[in-house]
Amino acid sequence: MIPWRIGHQMPDLLVKLYELPEVRANLKDSVRGGVNFRRAMAYEKHQIVNWVGKHFGNGWASECDVAFSNRPVSCHIATQSGAILGFACYDSTSRGMFGPIGVAKPSRGQGLGRNLLLSCLHAMAVMGYAYVIIGGTGSAEFYRRVVNVVEIPDSIPGIYIDKLAE
Ligand SMILES: CC(C)(COP(=O)(O)OP(=O)(O)OC[C@H]1O[C@@H](n2cnc3c(N)ncnc32)[C@H](O)[C@@H]1OP(=O)(O)O)[C@@H](O)C(=O)NCCC(=O)NCCS
Repeated sequence: MIPWRIGHQMPDLLVKLYELPEVRANLKDSVRGGVNFRRAMAYEKHQIVNWVGKHFGNGWASECDVAFSNRPVSCHIATQSGAILGFACYDSTSRGMFGPIGVAKPSRGQGLGRNLLLSCLHAMAVMGYAYVIIGGTGSAEFYRRVVNVVEIPDSIPGIYIDKLAE
């Protein structure tokens, strides 16, 4: 087991985009077969940013908001019957970095996080990135289960320095 945790902080992780697994067509729960994974559209910005703020707080809502400034929009979402189930962003706080990602609590454990992560990483590969950095994450095990990750030495606190008090 790799010692991911040092105090309460985590190192950044490096992902090779040239050996990515494919997005799984079949989610674990067949009821979830009707879930769509796609890039967010500009006209949905208010709904998605509000949803992220409600489920994951203002900091992630801010990062999601910034993702809508990119062309193409660097936020992907999971939807079912017009409802948001999860989101993932990249190129937000820093170029070449993935995150944040979040799935609504009742929808976790069914493969949505995996597909959102892989959808974004494949999109980044198409843009021309060779590697992606996952910033100091609290869910390293999730990433390790989906892609091969390499811990970046001396990456604590990384870019997350001099953070404003909540
Ligand atoms: C992390 C998160 C996005 C995972 O979403 P999810 O839809 O539940 O994940 P999946 O069902 O696709 O899981 C994929 C794999 O990761 C594993 N996994 C998921 N969450 C995990 C966690 N918190 N710890 C360890 N393993 C986890 C699953 O068991 C699965 O493994 P398997 O393929 O070997 O069975 C979700 O739990 C979440 O929103 N958490 C709160 C926000 C967060 O911590 N985001 C990440 C930091 S930016």
